[in-house]
Amino acid sequence: MTRTVYVNGDYLPETEAKVSIFDRGFLMADAVYEVTSVLGGKLLDYAGHEKRLARSLNELDMVNPVTPEDLLEVHRQLVERNGIENGLIYLQITRGNAGDRSFVFPDTSVPGTIVLFTQSVPDLELPKSAQTGIKVIAFDDLRWGRRDIKTVQLLWPSMAKMAAKKAGCDDAFFVKDGMVTEGSSSNAYIVKGNKIITRPLSNDILHGITRATLLVYAAEAQFEIEERAFTIEEAQSADEAFVTGASTFVMPVIEVDGKPVGTGAPGPVARRLRELYIAEGKKAAI
Ligand code: PDD
Repeated sequence: MTRTVYVNGDYLPETEAKVSIFDRGFLMADAVYEVTSVLGGKLLDYAGHEKRLARSLNELDMVNPVTPEDLLEVHRQLVERNGIENGLIYLQITRGNAGDRSFVFPDTSVPGTIVLFTQSVPDLELPKSAQTGIKVIAFDDLRWGRRDIKTVQLLWPSMAKMAAKKAGCDDAFFVKDGMVTEGSSSNAYIVKGNKIITRPLSNDILHGITRATLLVYAAEAQFEIEERAFTIEEAQSADEAFVTGASTFVMPVIEVDGKPVGTGAPGPVARRLRELYIAEGKKAAI
């Protein structure tokens, strides 16, 4: 089936959707993005994604070409038009097409480019990886210093995923100054007894929407939460490890840089948190 995508006000078959070669998203990675999950045809954590998008745009002096009301409607239309039961909606806003290539930002009369598209993921709720857990390698965090802004500069995360694949693993934990920052497209956690440990928010990591929601549910479920950085060695000797993100929810990590974590199988805390996030997320989905 040809997907229907959204480009600058129009719903089009993906084969007819076009963006200029002078678009700054293409030339300069001058663009931000969001990924929102869909379960049962409804949007999870939408308010959080919308808020973070506004923050990313604001940090880069960019303007959202679409009002909040229209943006929600575009998400809903794409779910409906593409018959998405379970899947993901990707959104990108670029600084637009200034007509020439230049390092200098064009003035704000140049409209931004907005693109949204869907990806159907039938097993989003119950992927095999959630049962088996994933293996991660340690990988030097050489990304730029504003990882709190969700920009489309995803080359280093792609290189990290390729290095993981080459090593027979699934993903990477980025490491900066000896401490884990986050996963290549997720936030990272370890579990010790009843305690969930994750790096505090700063410019070093993306302020995950799944993270924010999960920490509220976890506190309500009487888990202790400690926001501090941890090392690869600490992750290897923890009871459990896991990552969170819109495309993975809560994903158990069973091996870190060649060493099994805990029993080497998904643990009860990650399992419980995954169930909790999905059950509560579905109740709150719009
Ligand atoms: N990635 N950290 C990084 C570097 C990420 O790219 C992501 C999400 C997260 C988790 O954020 P959230 O819970 O808001 O999805 C943390 C998305 C899913 C992606 O790039 O596909």
